[in-house]
Amino acid sequence: MSDRHPTVEAPIPNCPKHVAIIMDGNGRWAQAQGKPRLFGHHAGAKRVKEIVRACPDVGVKYLTIFAFSTENWKRTQSEVSGLMSLFRRYISAEMKGLVKEGVRVRFIGDRVRLDGKLQAMMDDLERRTEHNEKVHLTIAINYGGRDEVARAVKEMACDVASGKLDPTSVDETTLTGYLDTRVLPDPDLVIRTSGEARISNFLLWQSAYSEYEFIDTLWPDFTSDVFRSCVSRFAGRERRFGGVKA
Ligand code: FPP
Repeated sequence: MSDRHPTVEAPIPNCPKHVAIIMDGNGRWAQAQGKPRLFGHHAGAKRVKEIVRACPDVGVKYLTIFAFSTENWKRTQSEVSGLMSLFRRYISAEMKGLVKEGVRVRFIGDRVRLDGKLQAMMDDLERRTEHNEKVHLTIAINYGGRDEVARAVKEMACDVASGKLDPTSVDETTLTGYLDTRVLPDPDLVIRTSGEARISNFLLWQSAYSEYEFIDTLWPDFTSDVFRSCVSRFAGRERRFGGVKA
């Protein structure tokens, strides 16, 4: 997190508090240059750094990024292990800067399938940044919205069985409290890069009233200026949450 961008622009009025991003298009970006897919993922990791840094300037307090889905295990073994080693490298390279720059990092997703070393590094980064509050960065690794809801329901069922939870009291707030994201506000804006218009099992419960931006830019080309323009478009939208205009 060194080399801070020298120009600090003013926060955007009506800026979304929480932006979630499906970072898509790394593979196509690399292949267009005749490079291996992992080259695109490395370029994508650099953009993560730039966008995290841009958040305080733009006015975004919570940023959640989809780094690896429960379905991504279907990729080749070399791509999966390359991504896992990229996550380890990212954590060790960025740890100091994230701590210093006031970024609180959290991970969501099922950690059980991740290797022990990566799990320990994730725990450590969460612990070391737990008192930060300038920006809340949440990284989804081995995350799937359906899997998250299923794990939450399983935990709730165990609490009912042990007498800790009264089943007749269960409502939306109860379920929200069992999700990986329980301490986060719902995303106001979900961005997907690379021209695909689908949500791919990302934050299914939490994005019930999110605004969406599907943009053609491939993730490694997603600069802080592109981020700023997505946020500005959001600021001009009218949100009614199922109600009518006041
Ligand atoms: C989707 O592009 C991208 C991913 C599955 C990986 C996202 C990972 C990063 C941006 C790397 C760094 C992240 C962190 C947190 C360090 P794709 O491979 O599906 O692209 P394609 O659709 O063009 O093939």
